[in-house]
Amino acid sequence: MKKPLRFGLVGTGFMGKAHAIAMRSVGTIFPEVAAPELDYLVDSNAARAQELADAWGFRRAGDDWQALCNDPDIDVISICTPNHLHKEMALAAAAAGKHTWCEKPLGLGGPEAEDIWRAAEKAGVRTSMGFNYMCNPLIGLAKELLASGEIGDVFNFRGSYLEDYLSDPEAPFSWRCLRSQGGSGALNDLGTHLINMAEYLLGPMQSVYGALATVHTHRIDPASGQPREVENEDIAQVLLRFERGPVGTMEISRVGTGKKCGLEFEIHGSKGSLMFDQERMNEIRLFRTGEPAVESGYRTILAGPQHPDYARFCPAPGHGLGINDLKIIEARNFLHSIATDTPVYCDFANGWRVQAIVDAVERSHRDQQWVDVTQGKH
Ligand SMILES: NC(=O)c1ccc[n+]([C@@H]2O[C@H](COP(=O)([O-])OP(=O)(O)OC[C@H]3O[C@@H](n4cnc5c(N)ncnc54)[C@H](O)[C@@H]3O)[C@@H](O)[C@H]2O)c1
Repeated sequence: MKKPLRFGLVGTGFMGKAHAIAMRSVGTIFPEVAAPELDYLVDSNAARAQELADAWGFRRAGDDWQALCNDPDIDVISICTPNHLHKEMALAAAAAGKHTWCEKPLGLGGPEAEDIWRAAEKAGVRTSMGFNYMCNPLIGLAKELLASGEIGDVFNFRGSYLEDYLSDPEAPFSWRCLRSQGGSGALNDLGTHLINMAEYLLGPMQSVYGALATVHTHRIDPASGQPREVENEDIAQVLLRFERGPVGTMEISRVGTGKKCGLEFEIHGSKGSLMFDQERMNEIRLFRTGEPAVESGYRTILAGPQHPDYARFCPAPGHGLGINDLKIIEARNFLHSIATDTPVYCDFANGWRVQAIVDAVERSHRDQQWVDVTQGKH
């Protein structure tokens, strides 16, 4: 029997825990993929790494990510650290021949993401990006409805991703507010998910026009107790055109007061419309033209076992999946990609493409003009 893959994880925060849960549960939900052994957990805080290795079922713990990357016993690595660390960690993982699952954004900008993608390609390792919302069975359904012409010719995309984790002016300064550690602000944190989803649903974008704004220009740095300048945007607004014709808008905000995970889209076509809201991730709304006026309106489709992957978690319709379930599906996709040596959607190529569009939005804001994004597709 083939030996199970050995899994190492760096970063034990929000996403580190999600990756750990996913790799620990994937064999229960999807027994057809060989579940990895949870081997090596790394965090810069050694005590935290040890405590969580014990709690999450990892065999070993440490505080040195380079030791993890160079460990010959490790086959697969997850990178769940702040954005500015992704590059050196992913390059080291590729150089050591490890299959790598990296959280978004792949790099701080397009050129960095391209370097990471090229290194992984050269090393011949399989890669996966943390675009978990794509793994929702209802996003797959939306794609099918669009492809089958259910809402006719699409002419408009309205997307938004609004959260309020920085809407309080008293919220402390963090790495997310620094260009050198977060890169762009709301765009890298939230916009990356929306950009990737928009292209998945409607194909490649052709051009973008962006406007950025920083609402709270200074925040108190908990380290010094002093105000510190916020170096990136709180809000991004984007006009866009898709190659195949539709136009659209995207609004992205980390100061969207009241919104907790407002990743939403509305797509209008000649025969109907589709609406999705991640805060109600187990439903999608479909409008069809041509119905009698008295009963015309959006109807709600609830997620259920008739939608791919749902039944693996739960036999009952309408009971619902959660964010960690999406991460388990993402883990399954990645492990399948490794087992079959075929690319997964989404991999580092998607990560690079998304960062190129983020760069284009920033450039458009700076130069106050439309920026073409047809170059650099891969
Ligand atoms: N896919 C998603 O939906 C999603 C959601 C949140 C965050 N993210 C991404 O995940 C990444 C991590 O975000 P988070 O919210 O989990 O952050 P977090 O602050 O909760 O966790 C970061 C972890 O990295 C550790 N760390 C920092 N420097 C390190 C180093 N040099 N070596 C080892 N460990 C180190 C920290 O101790 C901490 O445990 C970010 O890139 C973020 O954009 C993705």
